[in-house]
Amino acid sequence: MRKLVFLLWATTLQAQKTERLALTPPMGWNSWNKFHCDINESLIRETADAMASNGMKAAGYQYVNIDDCWHGARDSLGFIRPDPDRFPSGMKALADYVHSKGLKLGIYSDAGSKTCAKRPGSRGYENQDAETYARWGIDYLKYDWCNTDSLNAVGAYMTMHDALLRTGRPIVFSICEWGSNKPWLWAPAVGNLWRTTEDIHACFDCLLEHDTDRGVWVQWGVMPIMERQALLRGYAGPGHWNDPDMLEVGNGMTVSEDRAHFTMWAMLAAPLISGNDLRHMSPETAAILTNRGAIAVDQDSLGVEGLHYRTTDSVEVWFKPLSHDGWAMVLLNRARSPRTPTFDWRHEAVSDSVSGRSARFADVTYHIRDVWGDADRGTTAQAFSATVQPHGVVLLLLTR
Ligand code: GLA
Repeated sequence: MRKLVFLLWATTLQAQKTERLALTPPMGWNSWNKFHCDINESLIRETADAMASNGMKAAGYQYVNIDDCWHGARDSLGFIRPDPDRFPSGMKALADYVHSKGLKLGIYSDAGSKTCAKRPGSRGYENQDAETYARWGIDYLKYDWCNTDSLNAVGAYMTMHDALLRTGRPIVFSICEWGSNKPWLWAPAVGNLWRTTEDIHACFDCLLEHDTDRGVWVQWGVMPIMERQALLRGYAGPGHWNDPDMLEVGNGMTVSEDRAHFTMWAMLAAPLISGNDLRHMSPETAAILTNRGAIAVDQDSLGVEGLHYRTTDSVEVWFKPLSHDGWAMVLLNRARSPRTPTFDWRHEAVSDSVSGRSARFADVTYHIRDVWGDADRGTTAQAFSATVQPHGVVLLLLTR
């Protein structure tokens, strides 16, 4: 009995320690969406320089994450080494550099024998790899699911979770098995975030199918990924987040679409991991990624995902409960032409079973702040009307 109590106590302590690493959704950058395998240490250093000086760090971005293809071979004792041509200074020096900018360094591995790009995976080397990452000063691990054959997902992710914990270094654990094994049911106890779909693609409303050696591989546009989150919102919360994949802001969609993508990820309390070239971005892209109001919606300490309220004439209305009795509200135009909806608050009431929060706007008046318009828009005592651009959004903050 005593042993059992001790075990439960130790487990709770461990869980708390991991949870505290991501009390709000992680914010950072990852190399994959823009650069795929074309990465090296200069790119990572320059990205850290950019993040530290372009307003992103000040807005809350922290992690500079290297995705697939950094690997060289294992040495004779089985220790993984970085690719000597692409990362000649080694990972410890790179981590020191990123830390000197006040930022954190993330890395990538895979639970199987090989990564998705066929670099060495961690299967059978979990403890050794975790120790190596900790020795290098790594702060975040994205752990993929290619070449895993018949591995059991819960067991495989738990093995790496335990290995990371044993190092004693706080390392955010990002589970990337694309929602294949319903991670929302078990991953809250194992990692800080878990992917819910296959890979994102920089397109607003499409699904792409590719034939690969993994079979048919679907890439998802922003809207289909968003729709997929509807039933999962009850599983996320401080320390453990649904991950609808990294951002495609600045990677080819229109400015309105990028703004809508960023806004909806904020409404979903998604990790905000930028995926564009931070060294060369347009002022519009930078303004989206650093918008304080949208980021505050994402990072709100209540940690509850938004809910779809209604769709009228292609305009979706979403609400997200915020701390201090506030709400974020979005009008999202799914159509290819502008819409000018009117929202008459006095006839509307939102009720959220996940947070237990509700608001009857006939009874309670809120002040309205238009986040992207950067303007106050009166109160909910009057009906609200605005033009919403094609594939665009209006994001409102409602405060008492
Ligand atoms: C998988 C992941 C992607 C990326 C690639 C790298 O497809 O889902 O996010 O990490 O592997 O090969």
